[in-house]
Amino acid sequence: MRRRDLFFYVPVAVAGGFFAWLGLRAYNLRFRPRPEAGEPLWREGPRVRVARRGELGVWEVRFFDYSLPLGPLRALLLRLPEPAPGGLSLGEEHYIALSRICTHQACTLNYVPDPEAASILYNFRYERPFLGCPCHFGAFDPQLGGKAVYGPPRYPLPRIRLEAQGEEILATGHEVPLRPMEGT
Ligand code: FES
Repeated sequence: MRRRDLFFYVPVAVAGGFFAWLGLRAYNLRFRPRPEAGEPLWREGPRVRVARRGELGVWEVRFFDYSLPLGPLRALLLRLPEPAPGGLSLGEEHYIALSRICTHQACTLNYVPDPEAASILYNFRYERPFLGCPCHFGAFDPQLGGKAVYGPPRYPLPRIRLEAQGEEILATGHEVPLRPMEGT
């Protein structure tokens, strides 16, 4: 190969590598299948009152800290329009409680109630409210049991077990493994 050929081949190789990386990244962000949030395996935990029945409207949220030996776990309780895997259904009331710690790199997730407005920030259009990560713009769907649906995270959010006691909704344990603190 002549030296002046390098002026052609080197930029072509760099550009090819860049576009291959871009394609792989787009595939990972949008299309790579992610594990479903199946039936949870629970670990017993403290019994903590989180809300009263009927206190939250559909898509309304209650943030809470769930005490664990490794420290308080930032979590949320959300009332959903339909039953979710690992959630609690009481007649027509459907709830799920999820860890707010992103399974990618442990940033604290925000609740994004208006997906239309958030599509500008997240560059991700979704059909219903979701949990969004401010660090790398991952997204999780509470209606699918906390499944990761966009961005770098692959694994669903750990769920908090819910139980009803009279009119009270209690958190009584958490899913294992507690990602990302307990494995990936
Ligand atoms: S830490 Fe949440 S997407 Fe990276």
